[in-house]
Amino acid sequence: MAAKRKTQTEVSDLTRAQAKVELMRLALEIEQHNESYYNEDSPTVSDAAYDALRQRVETIEGRFPGLVTRESPSQKVGAAPSGRFAKVTHAVPMLSLGNAFSDEDVTDFIDRVRRFLKLPADEMPAVVAEPKIDGLSLSLRYEGGELVTGATRGDGFVGEDVTANVRTIADIPHKLKGRNVPEICEIRGEVYILGRDFIGFNKRAEKAGIQAAANPRNFAAGSLRQKDVSVTASRPLKFFAYTWGAMSAMPSKTQSGMLEWIGKAGFVTNPLTQRCESVDELLAFYRNIGTERANLGYDIDGVVYKIDRLDWQERLGFAGRAPRWAVAHKFAAEQATTVLEKIDIQVGRTGALTPVARLKPVTVGGVVVSNATLHNADEIERKDIREGDTVIVQRAGDVIPQVVAIVEDKRPKSAKPYKFPDTCPVCGSHVVSEEGEVVRRCTGAMICPAQATERLKHFVSRLAFDIDGLGDKQIQEFYEAGIVMSPVDIFTLEKRDARSSKKLADREGYGETSVRNLFASIDARRRIALHRLIFALGIRHVGEGNAKLLARHYATIDSFRESMIAAGKGHDSESPNEAWQDLDSIGGVGEVVAEAVVEFFAEKRNVKALDELLKEIEVLPAEQAKTDSPVAGRTVVFTGALTKFTRDEAKAGAERLGAKVAGSVSKKTDYVVAGEDAGSKLTKAKELGVAVLTEDEWLKLIG
Ligand code: IVH
Repeated sequence: MAAKRKTQTEVSDLTRAQAKVELMRLALEIEQHNESYYNEDSPTVSDAAYDALRQRVETIEGRFPGLVTRESPSQKVGAAPSGRFAKVTHAVPMLSLGNAFSDEDVTDFIDRVRRFLKLPADEMPAVVAEPKIDGLSLSLRYEGGELVTGATRGDGFVGEDVTANVRTIADIPHKLKGRNVPEICEIRGEVYILGRDFIGFNKRAEKAGIQAAANPRNFAAGSLRQKDVSVTASRPLKFFAYTWGAMSAMPSKTQSGMLEWIGKAGFVTNPLTQRCESVDELLAFYRNIGTERANLGYDIDGVVYKIDRLDWQERLGFAGRAPRWAVAHKFAAEQATTVLEKIDIQVGRTGALTPVARLKPVTVGGVVVSNATLHNADEIERKDIREGDTVIVQRAGDVIPQVVAIVEDKRPKSAKPYKFPDTCPVCGSHVVSEEGEVVRRCTGAMICPAQATERLKHFVSRLAFDIDGLGDKQIQEFYEAGIVMSPVDIFTLEKRDARSSKKLADREGYGETSVRNLFASIDARRRIALHRLIFALGIRHVGEGNAKLLARHYATIDSFRESMIAAGKGHDSESPNEAWQDLDSIGGVGEVVAEAVVEFFAEKRNVKALDELLKEIEVLPAEQAKTDSPVAGRTVVFTGALTKFTRDEAKAGAERLGAKVAGSVSKKTDYVVAGEDAGSKLTKAKELGVAVLTEDEWLKLIG
């Protein structure tokens, strides 16, 4: 079924009421993406799609300023350039470099400098030549010798605060060495990763079914920008220091002197750096580094030339966003021509279909290349890449080579335009692509082997079936052993084990007791709340919150199952059927979510897998939220140490009574229930004049 959807209403056409609902939906969706980005270390949408959501919030709020709430994604502190980290304004902007591509460009650079400084034609300004590291630049601020802030470059003026992450990088000192360290020092340089560490990570990622990184640069950037600092700490990031920002005093008068001082202060500077006194020396350096490039162990994309004397640097200043005192001499991307024999489709752990070009092996820049990424269906269409074509492949810093273009006059007559499959090559489920996304995905969440282990891990996770003794490790092991291939297998494990000659208890690391315990904890979960089951299905975009909304709305698994199948039979027609309209009208469930659920149920084999599972388990109907309770429709915040009930109990109880439980206090809060040692939320409630209740008062209120 091709997913056709209602087009998004223009912001200018929205009524105030529609805008309000839309903002709530967007906030929820953004929140979910933040979740998967932070906690699962894998974004569920492209940065562009994520930014588009945030942009829409801002456009709507621009039209209806009265609808801006404290909870809006636009208001959250920490809404940095990407919205994921706090912002840091650089004391001195982090600018970029102009490029030189030929020897002549380098001579021109020196001539311009000479003219600007009015140097005689025979005077060559000394120049420091450094490798241009292909990583991401970082600014480190030290006050009184202590590291206080680490920030990414961002847009050059405002970057992201990654201080906690930066502290985990061994090459970055927490304290500067030496006496007479200037009070304020901003040291700048490049975070990068060694090629072998990158390859090692990708190998492990592949085994573990985690998303592999596209190239070392992306890997370094992704590793640094982690909400969970322990993830950054587990990645072998490295750092070369090569320049500075704000300095309260200058330890040297030259670039080379500064690098020396930076090294003494405890940083790693690039050992290949060289002070040159002629253009010939610069060009020799460039060529030398170029031949050594493949053996350096890290990616570089050129060399940087910087005028050594800092007083001259100052006089030269900047032209636009690039300094007149420096230039980047870039390496040409390495290219080669070969035949594209076949296009294969790989299915990632989230179901994303990625086309891969199988090439007749060819050497590109010293490396034999036999595969290249084709990114997505749009890319193939745009470049009209066909099987049998002769293609130009390129490695530009990236470890994964790309197909740049086809050689048209070498196209065999028989070559046909490539048709992207509309079913998953691994499991045969139908493929969909979401609005605004180029990626096509397999819908066989329940059954696709390419997604299986990831889904199973999700299925047994804490907010889903929460099965004790069945964690990621066991799932991986059982899957590889062919014992647990789909969710239902978990619940038939004991039966099958009884009949099997290869007993679970005989496996290494297991014994009678642990197996008995495992079966007991599986049994304990045969009765499961509807929202947990819905969450466990692993439907795209259906997190815990949406699962609860769906469960509350449909109440029973039968009603949910039937309604979703029915909704799928009419939603893409001109007049959507009742079931689709009903789904689409659930407050808080956005269209993207509704689409995803319907697509899941449109895949018959998902339904079959679900039905098999249902034979083994009992799904408890969701309690309907009461609308006649005293707190129905009210917003409550629990804070402080609660003694009468746990936080989870309090939340579940309030929600059962139809109240909304919020995490922070705002004007919209109706009640704040304060336990012992309540802090800032209590203060805020008092400031805003929100009713504050003790636990006993709350219990009395809800009867
Ligand atoms: S100096 C005013 N030196 O290249 C600019 N940059 O294209 C000061 N880079 O954003 C930058 N190696 O991320 C400089 N040895 C090096 C470099 C280097 C890599 C990066 C840096 C900068 C980009 C500019």
